[in-house]
Parts: sequence; structure tokens; C-alpha cells
Amino acid sequence: MKSDEAKIPRHVGIIMDGNGRWATRRMLPRTAGHRAGVKNITPVVSAAFDVGVECVTLYAFSTENRGRDKAEVDALIDLIRKRLKPMTRELIARGAHVVFSGDTSYFPDDVQQIMSEIAAENVDGYEKTVNIALDYGGREEIVRAAKLASESGEVTAQSFERGLYTYGLPDLDMIVRTGGEKRLSNFLLYQAAYAELFFTDTLWPDFGGEELAEMFCQYNKRTRRFGK
Ligand code: IPE
Ligand code: IPE
Ligand code: MG
Repeated sequence: MKSDEAKIPRHVGIIMDGNGRWATRRMLPRTAGHRAGVKNITPVVSAAFDVGVECVTLYAFSTENRGRDKAEVDALIDLIRKRLKPMTRELIARGAHVVFSGDTSYFPDDVQQIMSEIAAENVDGYEKTVNIALDYGGREEIVRAAKLASESGEVTAQSFERGLYTYGLPDLDMIVRTGGEKRLSNFLLYQAAYAELFFTDTLWPDFGGEELAEMFCQYNKRTRRFGK
């Protein structure tokens, strides 16, 4: 796909689903699936950057995921604690700027500290952005943005959008969901208004650059009318 003739989505959101089933099928604990899922992030994001995508938002932990068994939530938080920094270093090394979306106050202080250290590690002159949706919920984001807009005066689309976690990022062009479910599960509800949706049965740890490239080809064939 040549970038001079292809339409490339500027901003792709990925709902990385299916880690638990990936592990269960291998008779492994669900946490092994989450570990395999984390390993898959840099290669897939790199494949997206290689074709010219500017921004990738990764759905890593939803506000509803807090309601899972305590052991699984604790294991996920521990994985964030151990893997977030090495993973973001890999992404920064590929020219990316790493930002977060979500109400991270739910996470333990040391994890919040890791997240602020990552923000401080970002260098100027980046070309790409990786936005990690951690403890993110679309409804929570909408309520938050509405509150911020009303506090600032008149509520308009502009003042509202300023309060979104994604403010400043390009419009969302495409959402990919792995793991077979055909739903958004509270991901980027406002931003998804005109995003092209792609679903695959492939479980997240098995999803790779080839399948993503096929989705980009399909994206290129779709006509985005935006109601016109
Ligand atoms: C996605 O995989 C990762 C998170 C939601 C944290 P799941 O853990 O939802 O895996 P499945 O859907 O149960 O297979
Ligand atoms: C969506 O997956 C959230 C993330 C991938 C982080 P879930 O597994 O939580 O979604 P549901 O429960 O199938 O809707
Ligand atoms: Mg799931």
C-alpha cells in the first residue's frame, strides 16, 4: 500500500480483547493471556506507524474492568506496574509520544507515579502518539467533559471537546476490536461518531500486522460520507 495513493487513517483505536480466552484455550491462567497481550502491543503499533497512522489509542483497562475478580484486577495492576515503563520506552524509541486517557486515581500511588514519570520521559519533536486508555470509560469521560465545560461557562461542542481526554489528538478514523465481540464496551463513545468499525475473531495476543494491513486495505475501499 503506497501512502501517496492510499487513504490512511490518522487515528486508530484498538479494543484489545480476548486475552483471557487465549490463555484458557492453552490451559493457562488468564494472567498469562494478559502478559502475551502486552507483548503484542509494540509490534502492532509499529505496523500501524509503518503505514503512516499518526495516533493509536489502546484500550487497556476499562472502568468496568474494576469489577473483575480481585485477583485478576491485582494481576493486571501488577502487570501495568512492571511492564508499562519498558513498553513505553519501546514506543518512545519508535518516535512516539505516550499519553494516557482515563481516571487514573483508582490505581495505587506507585502506578500513578510510574505514569507521571512516563509523561516526563516524552521528548519533543515526536511524530506519533500512543494514547493508552487505562481505567477509561466513555461515559465517565463524557460526564467529566460536560462538568468541565459547564464550569468554564457556555457548553458548546468546542468547550465540551476541550474536556475530553483525547483533546488535541486527530479525529478517530477507525476502531479495531479483536476477540470476536461486536460492541464498543464503553470505548471512545463520543469520538466513535464517524469511525469505521472493524471486528475480528482473532484473539488479541494472536493479532498481527498482516491482519491489520488487510483492515487498512478494507478501510481504503470504504466511502466515508459523514452524512453527506
Ligand atoms: C482484554 O482481554 C483485556 C482486558 C479487558 C483487561 P479479556 O481479559 O477481556 O479477555 P477475554 O475477553 O475474557 O477473553
Ligand atoms: C473491553 O473488553 C475492554 C478492554 C479491552 C480493555 P471487555 O472484555 O472488558 O468487554 P466486554 O465485557 O466483553 O464487553
Ligand atoms: Mg474480554
